[in-house]
Amino acid sequence: MAKGLEQGDSAPNEAHIAVHWREEQYIYPSPKFVGQAYLSDPAVNERFSMDKFPECFREYADLLSWDKYWHTTLDTSNAPFWKWFVGGRLNASYNCVDRHLEKYKNKAALIFVPEPEDEPIIALTYQELYNRVNEVAAMLRDFAGLKTGDRVTFHLPMTLELPITMLACARLGVIHSQVFGGFSGEACGMRAADSGSRVLVTMDGYYRSGRLIDHKANADVAVQVAKEQGQEIDKVLVWRRFRDKPASAAPMVKGRDYFVDEVLKEYVGRKVEPESMPAEAPLFLMYTSGTTGRPKGCQHSTGGYLAYVAGTSKYIQDIHPEDVYWCMADIGWITGHSYIVYGPLALAATSVIYEGVPTWPDAGRPWRIAERLNVNIFHTSPTSIRMLRKAGPEEPKKYNYHFKHMTTVGEPIEPEVWQWYYEVIGKGEAVIVDTWWQTENGGFLCSTKPAIDPMKPGSAGPAVPGIYPVIYDEEHNEIPAGSNRAGNICIRNPWPGIFQTIWGDPDRYVAQYYKKYNRDPKSKDWRDWPYFAGDGAMQASDGYYRILGRVDDVINVAGHRLGTKELESACLMVAEVAEAAVVPVVDDLRGRMPEVYVALKPGVKPSKHVEEKIVHSIETTIGKIARPKSVRIVPDMPKTRSGKIMRRILAAISNTMDIGDTTTLLNPDIVEEIRQMVQGKERLATKAGPEDIRRFGEET
Ligand code: WTA
Repeated sequence: MAKGLEQGDSAPNEAHIAVHWREEQYIYPSPKFVGQAYLSDPAVNERFSMDKFPECFREYADLLSWDKYWHTTLDTSNAPFWKWFVGGRLNASYNCVDRHLEKYKNKAALIFVPEPEDEPIIALTYQELYNRVNEVAAMLRDFAGLKTGDRVTFHLPMTLELPITMLACARLGVIHSQVFGGFSGEACGMRAADSGSRVLVTMDGYYRSGRLIDHKANADVAVQVAKEQGQEIDKVLVWRRFRDKPASAAPMVKGRDYFVDEVLKEYVGRKVEPESMPAEAPLFLMYTSGTTGRPKGCQHSTGGYLAYVAGTSKYIQDIHPEDVYWCMADIGWITGHSYIVYGPLALAATSVIYEGVPTWPDAGRPWRIAERLNVNIFHTSPTSIRMLRKAGPEEPKKYNYHFKHMTTVGEPIEPEVWQWYYEVIGKGEAVIVDTWWQTENGGFLCSTKPAIDPMKPGSAGPAVPGIYPVIYDEEHNEIPAGSNRAGNICIRNPWPGIFQTIWGDPDRYVAQYYKKYNRDPKSKDWRDWPYFAGDGAMQASDGYYRILGRVDDVINVAGHRLGTKELESACLMVAEVAEAAVVPVVDDLRGRMPEVYVALKPGVKPSKHVEEKIVHSIETTIGKIARPKSVRIVPDMPKTRSGKIMRRILAAISNTMDIGDTTTLLNPDIVEEIRQMVQGKERLATKAGPEDIRRFGEET
């Protein structure tokens, strides 16, 4: 292992267990795609060259309609709190809705596909979206008392009401904070408290895998948990999934809970002037997991963010107003905010919203939707691709749809899975972009430019226009470009989509993302403040980046970030548990999954019951997505002489990797005992040969 990237006693990370794939052949986009693409002129590289920074990003900002043009493209005077397009004013809801009315009022803005296949699909035109957004904005302002700068938490599922309510907030300059609908009420309450929301917007129920989920019950928990955290939620606005029947058994609390459709009767036909917001006013918060137990609210700006998602939707996703675009992510994640709602709508696209799971009722569902709606741009994650492939490898062939473009996002995609995406889902016709980015980033950082750069399976590609990555080792040395050596990927320069801060915690923002590679804490020069992404990566000689995974205590499960510390504290809430350690384990479908190791308190016997309590605690504090692959009750944890749990050893056991030297441990014998519990008596060969599997930081 290369010196400098040695992880010592620290927790193992995803980059450690990354499998290194072989270099793949290039695949070129079809002339048909190139012929119609927005961006086919390689001169873009020149336009966005480093010496044109930051002014190059005017090109993105010019895609928007400004009430007042900005005077300073990038203000670095309070580095690393970047301000973009300073002096400019605009409204995000106006940019995503009002300005399209003249040309596109009768065109579908959003198309809602309910999970039950016998429920009708609903298309919402730009005109009707405009009407609804105005009515809801009037209600939020006059009934809920929300005003510019207030925060409001949503715990909404994938229905039209979610983007409508987001855009209504944006119209008022109210900061929305959508918590993924699949998160527990407790997780929602914690986030609502952190953001200081006194209004919660939810829905009574929704469909998932053929079941009607009672969702309103979560709101009651959320309000309670927020209260325990010192945050009073005085209004809960409940959208109803059906007009004619309830979807939840939870009672409405008088004076606190209101059905939105009933309140809205007062606001029919109401119009609300879009609030002219400063470019750097916050547009929304998006909570994500970090290295400490507490999730952090990434604060995104109005002008910079919207410009960046519009620009990347146009150039990287090639979304034209004539296209039917479908991103299968959930709007509860950043992908949905940027590439279901804000980016596509800023470009007057038609964006599809699907309520349920892709494999319901069978693996043909996405292809029936694509065929029926004539979807021609498709966007999903490697986990969904793996699941669809497993459940119906031949399904796509049965349907008559044609994609011109497909995106993959959220996790590394194995070349084999990429090939199936390309050949079978894309029918060999669609170009693929593998986009690497994060909640904090607002939009894509690495990806091929689809009509310019060839595709290379398993590689995210070069950086997108105006982004300048660099890979550093732990000793702050730059790893030579194109050397295929792993290190920490950073971005040299700020960009308009970058988040502004962590809500309520600016110190943590600096500490986590900038401190590590900052050259001078007093510097006002952006060159001294590389952005530390927290991912391991390597760059091949052609300039393409391969992302290896997180280098911190975050596990990316099916493209969703979970903090191991959050999981561990959920385990420790179980009375019987003395110690807990959570490690990432490779999973064929989900990429990575958490594996839980616990040691019980003296006198407590291991049992199925304790295991179930642990799983239950994880599901109620975080959500079902955090369900561990397995819970291993061990007699003791492997520890250093100073008593630190050696998570790295547990991860090596879980992933059948070389355990390394254990002689310096406090309790070396426990390692073999745990290994036998997990792997069986026989010593298993490490999963891949030495050529294929390499530890993060090793020389190639
Ligand atoms: C991982 C999702 C490999 C990465 C937009 C990152 C990826 C984390 C890719 C962010 C990709 C995202 N290839 N890994 N194309 N895209 N990741 O915040 O580890 O939910 O740090 O944002 O996902 O996850 P987040």
